[in-house]
Amino acid sequence: MFNADELKKLFLSDLNNVESENQLSEFWKKFLSKQGAVQGLMANIKNVAKEEKKSYGQFVNDVKNWAQKLYEEKKAEIEKAALNARYDLETVDVTMPVDIQTPGNLHPLTTVKYEMINVFAGMGFEIFEGPEIEDDDHNFTRLNVLKDHPSRDMQDTFWLTEDLLLRTHTSPGQIRVMDAEKPPIKVLVPGKVFRSDSDATHSPMFSQMEGLVVDKHITLCDLQGMLDEFVKNMFSDAAKTRLRPSYFPFTEPSVEVDVSCFKCGGKGCSLCKGTGWIEVLGGGVVNNKVLENCGIDSTKYSGLAFGIGIERITMLKYGINHMGKMFENDIEFLKQFKA
Ligand code: PHE
Repeated sequence: MFNADELKKLFLSDLNNVESENQLSEFWKKFLSKQGAVQGLMANIKNVAKEEKKSYGQFVNDVKNWAQKLYEEKKAEIEKAALNARYDLETVDVTMPVDIQTPGNLHPLTTVKYEMINVFAGMGFEIFEGPEIEDDDHNFTRLNVLKDHPSRDMQDTFWLTEDLLLRTHTSPGQIRVMDAEKPPIKVLVPGKVFRSDSDATHSPMFSQMEGLVVDKHITLCDLQGMLDEFVKNMFSDAAKTRLRPSYFPFTEPSVEVDVSCFKCGGKGCSLCKGTGWIEVLGGGVVNNKVLENCGIDSTKYSGLAFGIGIERITMLKYGINHMGKMFENDIEFLKQFKA
């Protein structure tokens, strides 16, 4: 006859040897599964005398409960040990030295562009971006830079075909905006422009920020007021502007705009070459012909426009003396511009 005590002894000694989850599942198969030894006790019932069958059944049940309880305890113990082992493995030593990844920073040109946009957005300007490949019409003719006119030579153009070119300035954005919208208009056109020109202060590719305002009664005074606000925000509270007469075919009158030297305060220094003033941009009152070219009635409306070189502002602001530095992407140079 099957010896339950032997089975219990074997169960206990086997259980004692269980140390891992694998061993635990082997153990379960051996004793507690349908084919297991504890279940096997029940099969023995056929050898038990009829009148004892009931108490034998009760006995087997007790053994089963006993075995199951011990098994559960062991299971909990093994799981806890496995979890602790995992905790040990995943422990982080917060006192270890850290391998620091230096975060990147914006390119100074991008920072200055954003700053400029911020200043003008505060005055209610919206942003428009035009294509870098333009046609003659938008880049020149409708801006009143007529074919064979000497002013075409003011800008050394990269021509792509008879008619297509890399835009030489952001001013074609003026035409595109006036074609698409009725006054009042107040837009900024930031973007890359291209000219066949290269030295310490010129690069074949650079960036400009065009400004265009068209409404009733817009005058040169509005231009100066906006630009005063602009230089105060970009350079210093004490900065002022000065307008000098100039010439652009698309503005009449046209001006060069100087800012009072923010380094010496106007006394004269190396930055302003002793003059107290630094040239920063070109602008003027939109030429009536340009308004008419875009179907805007120049007897009702007038406009102002300006074009700012973003590299020039950046170089002045940070005291950078060579245009090439803007495009070399020398990481040691760029690192200095962390905000
Ligand atoms: N487009 C001119 C340039 O690139 C700048 C400018 C813009 C002048 C708008 C007047 C008005 O030199």
